Amino acid sequence: MSSTTPLLDVSGLTKHFPIKGGFPIRRTVGAVQAVDGLDFQVHEGESLGLVGESGCGKSTTGRLITRLLEPTAGKIVYRGRDITHADRKQLAPVRSEIQMIFQDPYASLNPRQTVGKIISGPMEINGIDPSGGREKRVRELLEIVGLNPEHYNRFPHEFSGGQRQRIGVARALALEPKLIVADEPVSALDVSIQAQVVNLLQKVQREMGIAFVFIAHDLAVVRHFSQRVAVMYLGKIVEIADRDDLYGSPRHPYTRALLSAVPEASVDTAPRDRIRLTGDVPSPISPPSGCRFRTRCWKATEKCASEAPPLARVEGDAAGHLTACHYPETEQTVPAPRLAKDPEAAA
Ligand SMILES: Nc1ncnc2c1ncn2[C@@H]1O[C@H](COP(=O)(O)OP(=O)(O)O)[C@@H](O)[C@H]1O
Ligand code: SF4
Ligand SMILES: [Mg+2]
Repeated sequence: MSSTTPLLDVSGLTKHFPIKGGFPIRRTVGAVQAVDGLDFQVHEGESLGLVGESGCGKSTTGRLITRLLEPTAGKIVYRGRDITHADRKQLAPVRSEIQMIFQDPYASLNPRQTVGKIISGPMEINGIDPSGGREKRVRELLEIVGLNPEHYNRFPHEFSGGQRQRIGVARALALEPKLIVADEPVSALDVSIQAQVVNLLQKVQREMGIAFVFIAHDLAVVRHFSQRVAVMYLGKIVEIADRDDLYGSPRHPYTRALLSAVPEASVDTAPRDRIRLTGDVPSPISPPSGCRFRTRCWKATEKCASEAPPLARVEGDAAGHLTACHYPETEQTVPAPRLAKDPEAAA
């Protein structure tokens, strides 16, 4: 396979959860537009960061890629193979290559199984017998993730939160995956432990050449982990770029706002005025017309309410830097932070 063929190629990916209502006959009365037309690629060994506030569709995206959820529309191509609607049997060979690490390391580990059983489970299910046996492989994996191989027979509750997430990583590695979707893998951990787990994932990515989709709700966590970063808002990608382009010259007002919330010390770019995002994320059941960010955007005009901005390259930006905004930020203009107002409410 040529190195330019993406490992994962997602286009128009959409997930609408139907809302049932009515009596006596239940019918579909609406839909939660959780994910609405995503386009992105992940190359072999690369890490793509997926960032946005809670509820913007990150977990749904992760579950679509790993095919835990059935897409409503769009296409998922993995190593040149269309797996969008592949059934269980067709997915079997791919399942082992795409693994997921979850946010809550306790909820995702069976409390009644020993660590050995948890980590060897995927090998058992997939009928994989490593040379030297499964137990030997589990001990190796425990060592790789920084746990004591002697703790093979212990149960999840005997470990700390950070150690449990290491168990989750070992389980994900058991099948030698090519892609790991990590859904806020450190959000539930103590701040003091987060860096250790991020470092472990980074080691895994670099030394084993595993590609990552790393989901996070803020831009600080993915900064040192992901070569490319996509910012999501209400089910859509509003900006995607190589790391340095995104952090160095953010174009979308939402990216700008998220970045201004990151402590200066962790961002080695020019100091920025702090922008406070006001108001809640609108409901994905009836998202705002036009640009979905307009109800919180300090630059919104009538055009923003009537026309959805396409995800496109802003003149002068690098080839892979795409922004969905009618009035992208320029490096010269630093917006005066003021309350976002709804252009409709003002009318
Ligand atoms: N199974 C489901 N049924 C209905 N709505 C859902 C379901 N899963 C997620 N949602 C909704 O889809 C939206 C996106 O959710 P999610 O992908 O979990 O966002 P994030 O991970 O970014 O916080 C939210 O409004 C959420 O309530
Ligand atoms: S399109 Fe308009 S509302 Fe949307 S982010 Fe750009 S300026 Fe703000
Ligand atoms: Mg989530």
